Amino acid sequence: MAPAAFPNSGMSITSRAKASRAGFAPLIPLDRRGAKPLYRQIYDWFQQAIVSGELPPGRRMPSTRSLASALGISRISVLNAFEQLHAEGYLQGRVGSGTYVADTIPEHFPHAPAGSPGPAKRHNTSRRVSHTVEALLALPRPQFLQTAAPFRTSQAALDQFPVETWSRLVARHARKASIAMMSYGDPMGYPPLREAIAEYLRASRAVDCEPRQVMVVTGSQQALQLTALALLNRNDPVWMEEPGYRGARQVFLMAGVRRIPVPLDREGLSVEEGIRRAPDARAVYVTPSHQYPMGMTMSAARRMQLLNWAARSGAWIIEDDYDSEYRFDSRPIASLQGLNHGEGTIYIGTFSKVLFPALRTGYLVIPDHLTPAFAAVRDAIDIFSPTLHQAALADFIHDGHFARHIRKMRMLYMERRLLLAGELQRQLGDEVEVVSAEAGMHLVALLPPGVPDVAVSAAAARIGIATMPLSASYETPPARGGLILGYGATDARQIREGVEKLAGCIREQSWYSRAAD
Ligand SMILES: Cc1ncc(COP(=O)(O)O)c(C=O)c1O
Repeated sequence: MAPAAFPNSGMSITSRAKASRAGFAPLIPLDRRGAKPLYRQIYDWFQQAIVSGELPPGRRMPSTRSLASALGISRISVLNAFEQLHAEGYLQGRVGSGTYVADTIPEHFPHAPAGSPGPAKRHNTSRRVSHTVEALLALPRPQFLQTAAPFRTSQAALDQFPVETWSRLVARHARKASIAMMSYGDPMGYPPLREAIAEYLRASRAVDCEPRQVMVVTGSQQALQLTALALLNRNDPVWMEEPGYRGARQVFLMAGVRRIPVPLDREGLSVEEGIRRAPDARAVYVTPSHQYPMGMTMSAARRMQLLNWAARSGAWIIEDDYDSEYRFDSRPIASLQGLNHGEGTIYIGTFSKVLFPALRTGYLVIPDHLTPAFAAVRDAIDIFSPTLHQAALADFIHDGHFARHIRKMRMLYMERRLLLAGELQRQLGDEVEVVSAEAGMHLVALLPPGVPDVAVSAAAARIGIATMPLSASYETPPARGGLILGYGATDARQIREGVEKLAGCIREQSWYSRAAD
């Protein structure tokens, strides 16, 4: 609300205020039928006039009686507004001589001219964001659709989730929420959930762990961030799979470590090449069960080689086991962590793919001697994860719903994967090459050499298809582009129609790149 002219004078506040030492009764435009109470409108008007400098420090305020009568409203509204301005330090009273704008208000408060956007919307070029944010914003951000469109990656079949069972469990815990459940919790997590996770990981993933080593976190993203904070220093060299998971790259960028891209071959990350590039790396980030995004499983020989190097050099292994529940050709692959009994390995898992991402729940398995370090970092960041959902999740696992859901989803994803691979073959033949393993919720289709994947993704996005360009997973652009195609939340009809649309985009871009040659 901009300060208005004085009644009967046509003068601005400043000119009238300068002219009069006896206070004034400005015409405040009031909206008598609006939702905002009258006292609040009066308060806002004066607060704005004081902050903007229109009413300078020491200026006398009108009497509440005269202002109320000039505005034709009850004195109570004016009194309430003045009381609030007093309480916040905008006004001061001088005994026997009325109310004044407080002397303590600085004369030169940087304010926006009336009518200009508020402080939050203005840009001040002399104020800088951190170097970390500048670097984060500089990461390539491909134009792919972020909505729940066909082939969106990292999206589970959320329509298949047993919502009723889940909401019953949440409601049960919400209804009987005890004092303990409502107060601060353990940075390591809710004990029954940690027990349920440890049991599941021992049985299904051959992870060597006890509940005391499990920390419940808000998704793998936080697990990675805690790991970086607990174990790494700025400029520490860290091996990263190339191509690899963009979320991990973001975390290591924020941690200021030196990311060392290490290429892959058919057996997974090339340890030999890693040693050649940075033999003294402090850590390695790997997705050995199902490499993201290429999908290969790290071979047994390569696992031994990696563990041997890490043991010799004292490097940490950060194992991201994000979707290995879904293997279609064999039983889930045993974790790398279990192979060396957790020595020097931080194991990370998530419920984002097996349940739903908005749960924001994942877990870390931490070597025993490091749990105080991780708990201290967690305490400093956000203390602990919300207890209500942890309690519901503990029951969901304990009562068998979790295992049942995984079994059902494994069948569904297997069918969708088969259909997608078949449709790609049927509609595009040799024009694309499917490279991923029989696992997970996405596959990679390599494009014809020379066809830019970012352009294909952008063209697909324009017609409602959400592919992720493979090159976005690289530190340095690859020789051959591809598309990461999620099929978790893409049903049979969408797969058939989506591949047809994609084929159109790929052929169109192939034509452009041939024409440009
Ligand atoms: C390699 C990898 N790790 C982890 C995640 C899951 O992250 P979050 O648990 O933070 O949702 C994803 C999801 O796409 C992923 O691709």
